[in-house]
Amino acid sequence: VKKPIVIAVDGPAASGKGTVSRRIAHFYDLEYLDTGRLYRGVGWLVLARGLDPRNAEEAAKVAEIFTLDLIDGADIRTPEVGRAASHVASVPAVRAALLQFQRDFAFNPPAGRAGTVLDGRDIGTVICPDATVKLFIDASAEERAKRRWKELSLQDPSIVLESVLDDIKRRDRRDASREAAPMKAAQDAHLIDTTDLDIDGAFAAVRRVIDRATGGA
Ligand code: CDP
Ligand code: CDP
Repeated sequence: VKKPIVIAVDGPAASGKGTVSRRIAHFYDLEYLDTGRLYRGVGWLVLARGLDPRNAEEAAKVAEIFTLDLIDGADIRTPEVGRAASHVASVPAVRAALLQFQRDFAFNPPAGRAGTVLDGRDIGTVICPDATVKLFIDASAEERAKRRWKELSLQDPSIVLESVLDDIKRRDRRDASREAAPMKAAQDAHLIDTTDLDIDGAFAAVRRVIDRATGGA
């Protein structure tokens, strides 16, 4: 049996890692998992049950019973859920509860697919340290805040750019400084700075890296 291709995509909030990962999955015919959904899902469920996302024990209990169908139809893209996700994501027992699902997904693509793409914060470092290709997508905090603000203001026109920037900076700081699987580029990751790139430009840069690493596969 041939080992599946695994593309690991990490990076900070609103760097464009999800957009790029979906493009990769579509272009190379790979299966895609947005692992942020798992942490946002646990964060959302904690809030929905009236619990405190800063309470490690309660977060761990929720993570243990978590499945994606529990967040069917929930709006997990809000800043509040993003903050809750970042809090629960710093709890080692929460990360442990979500680990096996991510590895099973990574290494067992459905029949007919050569592999998988996963995006998150620790895919190249912890979940799939032997990934075929590792990418770390970045952009300045100001540029990322503008991108996220544009998305959020479609739903809530009163949202202020400054608060989105502040939110992103705090979340990045928390994600990068935690002890359990902190956000960081794996030593063998390819860094792609998309501050001055649009989506097509970012995807072109990513394709060059993947094609070089896989021999054009
Ligand atoms: O889309 P955005 O970058 O805003 O966030 P996300 O990828 O949905 O992740 C939400 C939060 O989940 C992050 O701020 C991290 O705290 C956490 N997360 C994580 O710790 N590890 C992952 N593999 C994915 C997300
Ligand atoms: O997954 P992540 O939070 O890293 O970011 P995303 O959801 O893929 O992208 C956040 C927003 O930035 C989306 O609205 C993208 O269309 C936009 N984007 C962009 O304007 N330029 C890029 N090079 C990448 C993403």
